[in-house]
Amino acid sequence: MSNDGVNQGRRRFLTGATCVVGAAGVVGAAVPFVGSWNPSAKAKAAGAPVKASIAKIEPGQMVTVEWRGKPVYIVRRTKEVLDGLGGHDEMFRDPSSQQSKQPAYVDGVHRAIPGKEEYLVLVGLCTHLGCAPMFRPDVGAQDLGGDKWYGGFFCPCHGSKFDLAGRVFTGVPAPTNLEVPPYSYESDSVIVIGVDQEGA
Ligand code: FES
Repeated sequence: MSNDGVNQGRRRFLTGATCVVGAAGVVGAAVPFVGSWNPSAKAKAAGAPVKASIAKIEPGQMVTVEWRGKPVYIVRRTKEVLDGLGGHDEMFRDPSSQQSKQPAYVDGVHRAIPGKEEYLVLVGLCTHLGCAPMFRPDVGAQDLGGDKWYGGFFCPCHGSKFDLAGRVFTGVPAPTNLEVPPYSYESDSVIVIGVDQEGA
């Protein structure tokens, strides 16, 4: 599918990526950049929320927005991906996110707001030393474990692996799952990064 080209482009760049800031900037150019409209440079530096339109994200695709100077990944997960998140707990260091950073209203396995599991929102910084993990949704990738790879993220700096809920695999340097930032839905097609879900 068309997503292959996107992923290949990301892979070529990120293979050599060692700098988080540089990676975030190029990631933004290499994948479809969602419409985000930051209030102003000054407000952004102070940590203002960032809105992201998710209307044009295709199933299986990831886009990147910037929030507080960090890349935030938004992935639209397919039903197959969501169905496959359970049943592999032994592969993960923190399968239900007991030790990992995420808002209290996010479920620990899908790592999304209940009822809105289709969209995964993660801070795109490895919990080891902060590189930007690559999006690798290619199920069965031979370089990532073959039939034990159901798609996820791979950090090129020291080899940490995460699934499509950002959960860290065992046996890699990253100590915890990728962080889920505070976020909420302004509407069905707009996510606000940096504002907690009401009623949480
Ligand atoms: S920074 Fe990702 S594995 Fe070290």
